[in-house]
Amino acid sequence: MAESKGSAQLTIGNTSLDLPIYSPTVGPDVLDIRKLYAQGDVFTYDPGFTSTAACSSTITYIDGDKGELLYRGYPIEQLAAQSHHLEVCYLLLYGELPSAQQMIDFETRVTRHTMVHEQMHNFFRGFRRDAHPMATMVGVVGAMSAFYHDSTDIEDPWQREVAAIRLIAKIPTIAAMAYKYSIGQPFVYPKNSLDYAGNFLHMCFAVPAEDYVVDPILAKAMDRIMMLHADHEQNASTSTVRLAGSSGANPFACIAAGIACLWGPAHGGANQACLEMLREIGTVDRIPEYIAKAKDKNDPFRLMGFGHRVYKNFDPRAKVMKESADEVLELLGIHDNETLKVAKELERIALEDEYFVSKKLYPNVDFYSGIILEAMGFPTAMFTPIFALSRTVGWVAQWKEMVGDSDQKIGRPRQLYTGAPRRDYSDVENR
Ligand code: SDX
Repeated sequence: MAESKGSAQLTIGNTSLDLPIYSPTVGPDVLDIRKLYAQGDVFTYDPGFTSTAACSSTITYIDGDKGELLYRGYPIEQLAAQSHHLEVCYLLLYGELPSAQQMIDFETRVTRHTMVHEQMHNFFRGFRRDAHPMATMVGVVGAMSAFYHDSTDIEDPWQREVAAIRLIAKIPTIAAMAYKYSIGQPFVYPKNSLDYAGNFLHMCFAVPAEDYVVDPILAKAMDRIMMLHADHEQNASTSTVRLAGSSGANPFACIAAGIACLWGPAHGGANQACLEMLREIGTVDRIPEYIAKAKDKNDPFRLMGFGHRVYKNFDPRAKVMKESADEVLELLGIHDNETLKVAKELERIALEDEYFVSKKLYPNVDFYSGIILEAMGFPTAMFTPIFALSRTVGWVAQWKEMVGDSDQKIGRPRQLYTGAPRRDYSDVENR
């Protein structure tokens, strides 16, 4: 637990309470209110948990004012420039960067688990071809607990470890299968000779009719996208995974719950919604019309890919993604990409507009990612599945931390009840 730093006094009526204060490694102090209801007979009220620390964690730190994101203390900019996704997976799971031998062992274990049980192929056939790949992923990942019974006992550390490796290893295979199924092409098996990101591209774009050679530049861009999305503190989908895990549910069910939550357009679904919005805007001259819609309180339209609960300065991932977008489009020989032009002009105009400046709304991780993924050949429906496969390691690391936390108990928030007071049933003739 963090270091104690005295306490805060709270007076409610004739009751005075001492609430312990703890200091984190970095970031705001926390007020321990665990005894508040028992001693003060009151709840706190915090819809959306804007001021609530739901757990203690050693995995990821975000400073929204500084635009800082650290994975186990390492800045995302350094990892994106010098590391690779599987090394980041090791770091998030075990807390330290691996030695050369540890990396070889980890990569071998993951590589050897990339295939899925052959019967899962039939499982896909129950879906309509035009099902959204996220719907398929939620179903198939949840169904993993029907195939891998020997790694569902969360009390067994070895089974927890096996489930973690299986999820990280198989999620790209499942995402690629969801894509192939949606376009009516045959599934492509993983190849152990390819690295994690290259294997995913091969499973998505190879066809039996001809060889597919993974472009190392695209593989590097894919790998960077995976790293940038790997974890992000207690966001909505991670909190969903933790809450599901707090009941003792098996890891596959918990990750399926995380995928379901990520799908929402306010969260991971924003990358698809953002590219669709940029396409709808179409040309730079239509941007003011959409800026006005985003500012209109009576219009539910929001600039997708803009704003964040925590970042009230730039999202460091968006900066790296923007650089990557320029690099990938250049390398692919895609010049004058109208969507990128609209995105950059929209960002420029928004960041000069009083509404966005006053509300501290900046591009987030979803603003540029879709432009890169579209240039790589992915349809918009695959953007959120790629976010989900990238975030799987973060969900798994947070789930493992939660299951191993002696402080953790089943998550069970209370409420501010504003419904009808107690009343007696009346027969229908008296209503
Ligand atoms: C992700 O939590 C995470 O870490 C998530 C994530 C991760 O890695 O896990 O970073 C991934 O989900 C990124 C966010 C992707 N979503 C979008 O891009 C969708 C568009 N953004 C908004 O829906 C919104 O900004 C949220 C959901 C991201 C944040 O919502 P908040 O913190 O609840 O912000 P808010 O709704 O309180 O907005 C504050 C004000 C409001 O105006 P007022 O009520 O104060 O007048 O800003 C306005 C909002 O109307 N606002 C926007 C806006 N986002 C907020 N106005 C126009 N366009 C926007 N995008």
